[in-house]
Amino acid sequence: MRLQKFMAKAGIASRRKSEKIILDERVMVNDKIIKELGFKINPDKDIIKVDNKIIYIEEEKIYILLNKPVNYITSVSDQFDRKTVMDLLPDIQQRVYPVGRLDYDTSGLLLLTNDGDLTYKMTHPSHEVEKVYLAEVKGIPSEDQLNNFRNGLSIEDYVTSKAKINIIEKNNTKSLLEITIHEGKNRQVRKMCEKINHPVLKLKRIKFGIIDLNGLKEGNYRRLTKTELTYLKKSHKEDKKI
Ligand code: URA
Repeated sequence: MRLQKFMAKAGIASRRKSEKIILDERVMVNDKIIKELGFKINPDKDIIKVDNKIIYIEEEKIYILLNKPVNYITSVSDQFDRKTVMDLLPDIQQRVYPVGRLDYDTSGLLLLTNDGDLTYKMTHPSHEVEKVYLAEVKGIPSEDQLNNFRNGLSIEDYVTSKAKINIIEKNNTKSLLEITIHEGKNRQVRKMCEKINHPVLKLKRIKFGIIDLNGLKEGNYRRLTKTELTYLKKSHKEDKKI
């Protein structure tokens, strides 16, 4: 991209005025003053400074809700060449990142955005919103096991916070549970179910705060609505007390 175009996109001045700023020797690319008007830069790699201050192009913020199928890794790339959630977003031009993660073998609701502030807020332990999962587990948990789950379980080096758990369906060999937690530790739901001796057979996230999949087909995505976005931006501790 031409330097003056980058400057205009970064909101410094019009292209014409940016040319003047370049000629005035106020612009540096990777710490070298550039005087040439047609100078080409790489917006992904080069560091551009005007009057010694770094300038950026503000990308349009985008917020996506994906219904992740199993066998996709929640990552932008994979060392083992497995399919990633990015493969499900071929039409998205912006570089987005997952907000938290779902296991390779977990399906359901995954948010992705290029809004780093929101990602930070959503994944920070003090801000995590309620997440609801449907877990198909082996066997049928007893009332005591359900209560242990609700009161907090000791897992590895931590004790889980209070959680909700209810049996939705059961047969002789397995049951379907609705589980609500507001933490997001690695494989937490699986470890909690394992701890009460009812290992997970299938796991799907169906809700994140007020946001749910609402008929979105597996493998498909949509943009968040204004209401959903406002909720995420406002959500704080009080929202998630169980
Ligand atoms: N808990 C898990 O165990 N796995 C997930 O993917 C999400 C929550």
